[in-house]
Parts: sequence; structure tokens; C-alpha cells
Amino acid sequence: MMGTEHPDRATPSAEREFLQDCLRGLDQRPRGLSPKYFYDARGSRLFERICALPEYYLTRTEVDIMRRHAPEMGRIIGPGALVVEPGSGSGVKIRLLLDALPAPAGYVPVEISPEPLEASVQALERDYPSLDILPVCADFTRPFGIPEGRRPVRRRLAYFPGSTLGNFPPERARELLQRLRLIAGEDGAVLLGVDLEKDPDILVPAYDDAQGVTAAFNRNVLYRMQRELGARLSPEDFAHRAIWNGAEGRMEMHLVSTGHQRIDLGGRCFRFAPGEPIVTEYSYKYTPERLETLASRAGLTTVARWTDPRGWFSVQLLRAG
Ligand code: AVI
Repeated sequence: MMGTEHPDRATPSAEREFLQDCLRGLDQRPRGLSPKYFYDARGSRLFERICALPEYYLTRTEVDIMRRHAPEMGRIIGPGALVVEPGSGSGVKIRLLLDALPAPAGYVPVEISPEPLEASVQALERDYPSLDILPVCADFTRPFGIPEGRRPVRRRLAYFPGSTLGNFPPERARELLQRLRLIAGEDGAVLLGVDLEKDPDILVPAYDDAQGVTAAFNRNVLYRMQRELGARLSPEDFAHRAIWNGAEGRMEMHLVSTGHQRIDLGGRCFRFAPGEPIVTEYSYKYTPERLETLASRAGLTTVARWTDPRGWFSVQLLRAG
């Protein structure tokens, strides 16, 4: 178990990287901030609330697919699997999977933020006392080591649910799938949950909910800049915007300056005109065909695929080759 006195305080090197990323992103046109900075403790709590919103169908739909099909997934994957979950959060999905796997060798949650990682490990330890849980606090977009457990591992399963793949532009998504293939190894598999393209009338409200939870989640990155980097700015003077970009097949989240204003950060001054956006997130939506093409470009083949009755979300089991 990890023990940290200030579980959500960034290390000096993480703080330096956050600052450098913000400075680089604010210099770009359009300006941008990486979505990975949404997820401090507050951002992770807001994301949990998003997952329960009536408009945000993704989590509910994927959980439903897991409820109905996890037993079949478990049969195909077989006994002795070491499940590695990059960006684990604290989900019900991993429980559905663990419940369906025959005699799993262990579970490796990988999370960038120590606090949510610690919370999810504690909860799982309570509910799965005989499961070997081997947490890794790391940025999963970079190489990380997979810890050895107590039980023999027959195969590794890289579990990547939640359509997190959609937050990466196609070339980076391919690299990420390649990384998942490496995590799985030669005899292993990748279980991947991806949101599918659908009517913008469904998509846009999912990213712009009536209660404003997604708006608060989006602005959290600005509050983090204030709190952690000492930036001088007014987060509430940036409006949340969610748009469907049909040409690119993605949802986009922006923070739009509501007037003339400036952000002072790291000795720099960034001036904003009214209406000027900061791009904070892309959320690509796939068709089954585009996903198949992407997987094969990463050296992965589809073994099985499960979807919901409306065809909104897709969970696929992939293997190397
Ligand atoms: C984590 N990720 C898959 C979410 C998504 O739907 O792209 C993040 C999110 N952004 C706004 N709402 C949820």
C-alpha cells in the first residue's frame, strides 16, 4: 500500500512538467491544455459525477455491455490472467471483469494521481481480499514497469475501458494501442472499450450537461494552474464549450475567453481576446471500421467484439498479430 502525507500534491518534477506543458500549450494557436491535467483529486471526483449524469451515456452503456458479456469475456481470456489497467480510476467495470475471470493472477492499476489510486486500491482490497493488487503510480502514456505478483501468470490482459483511447489523436492512439500490445505481450490480449460515432444531438449534451458538471471539470485545469503553479487568472471568465467536429470525427471541449483578459504564468503574460478559445480535450468517436483499421495498424487483431442494442459503444478483445 502506498503512503503519502499529501496525496494530491505534485512532486517538483511533475509541477515543472505541468508548467512547461501549460506554457507550451498557451503559446500554440489555437491555444491548448492537455486533458491529462483534468485529473487531480477534485477533477477525478468531478469525472465520477460526470459518469453518473443522465446525458453522459458512455459509462452506463459500457457497464451494461460488461454486465451482459463479461462471463463470455472471462471464458475466452481464461485462468491465470494478470490484468493491467492503465488509467484505472475507481470503476465498477473492473469488478465486473474480475468477477468473470477464472482465478486471475493479479490486478495492476496504473494511475497518474496518487489519491484516486490509493482510494481504489483500498476499496478493492476490502472487496477482493484474496486478489493480488499491485498498484503503479505512473503516467501510462510513458513506459512503466509491471510488478511481479505472488501467483504464476499465464497471460497478461491490458484492460483499457472508458473510451480513454478517444482522448488521443489517431497517431497517438495507434502508439497507445502498440503500448497496450507490448503490455499484453505475445500470448496476452487487450480488452478495449471505445465510444462509437452517433448523432450529435446525443453527443453534444453528453459533453455539455444541464447541471454544469462538465463545465466545472473543464475549468478545473485553470483552477489547478492557480493553485499549483500560482497562475494569475479568472477561471470563471472562461466559458465551457462542447462542439462536434464532424470532419475529424471528434467531440471537442474548449474554454472560451468571455472578454479581454490575461493569464500570468511562470513570468509570462498571455493575452486573450473575447471569444478566443483554449482547446482542452478531443474525444474521438470511432466507427467499427475505423477502429479495426487503427487496431491493425498497431499490430492487433480483433478476437471478439460486443456492443449494446443501440450500437453506441463497443468493447473488443484484441490480440497481437
Ligand atoms: C475520460 N474520457 C474518455 C472522457 C471522454 O468522454 O472523453 C473525459 C470527459 N470529458 C468530458 N466528459 C468526460
